[in-house]
Amino acid sequence: MNQSPSGGTLMGEARILPSADVDERATLGGGTTIWHLAQVREDAVLGRDCIVGRGAYVGPGVRIGDRVKLQNHALVYEPAVLEDGVFIGPAAVLTNDLYPRSADVDGGLKRPGDWDALGVTVREGASVGARAVVVAGRTIGRHALVGAGAVVTRDVPDFALVVGSPAKRIGWVGRAGEPLKPEGDGRWRCPRTGEEYAEKDGASGGRLILLNR
Ligand SMILES: CC(C)(COP(=O)(O)OP(=O)(O)OC[C@H]1O[C@@H](n2cnc3c(N)ncnc32)[C@H](O)[C@@H]1OP(=O)(O)O)[C@@H](O)C(=O)NCCC(=O)NCCS
Repeated sequence: MNQSPSGGTLMGEARILPSADVDERATLGGGTTIWHLAQVREDAVLGRDCIVGRGAYVGPGVRIGDRVKLQNHALVYEPAVLEDGVFIGPAAVLTNDLYPRSADVDGGLKRPGDWDALGVTVREGASVGARAVVVAGRTIGRHALVGAGAVVTRDVPDFALVVGSPAKRIGWVGRAGEPLKPEGDGRWRCPRTGEEYAEKDGASGGRLILLNR
């Protein structure tokens, strides 16, 4: 490890601010920054050009791709998997235990080996809004957007825009993150990029696919 000219420690080519706590068994890709008071636990793997904000937490063995942002105080519990380009908003929580208990029925403290952690998966390019909670084991689809404060209790399809508790789909978003505009006949267009999308299997409960770029 070396000292960074702008403060903090360089681990490989990653930058770790002085008050951050990064386990030496974690792996950080080049260009990744771990900000103040963030914690990255043992065996976590983060790709290139990630940003882990102040006070964020990355659990043991969590897998994180490239260009992922964890905003301040985001909590990512193991064994979560975050693909490339994922955004986790401030104070959002990716949980890992559906039926949590501190102690077992005999009164003893439950240790990590006493229960099966169930991780959240966030697929490529998806975003989770501020203070949202994702229940253990759920998958957020590619480029989906979870609104601020949502509680995600079911899997979220690719490109879905979901809000509320429990989170429900109120629209579709494109790769740029903006809500898509309906063009009729199950076709949708991104006002930012012009990309066209089509619903499959019916709008409700169905899915959206990108037709062209
Ligand atoms: C979900 C979101 C993308 C919707 O934005 P939008 O497309 O501009 O939608 P609107 O503001 O027009 O709202 C549409 C409807 O959804 C509701 N809504 C919007 N955001 C909501 C949320 N987070 N939770 C619950 N309902 C929400 C609105 O009240 C409105 O309901 P109505 O039609 O009954 O009046 C946005 O509100 C949001 O939460 N973005 C995430 C912000 C965030 O956490 N950023 C993190 C970085 S700081």
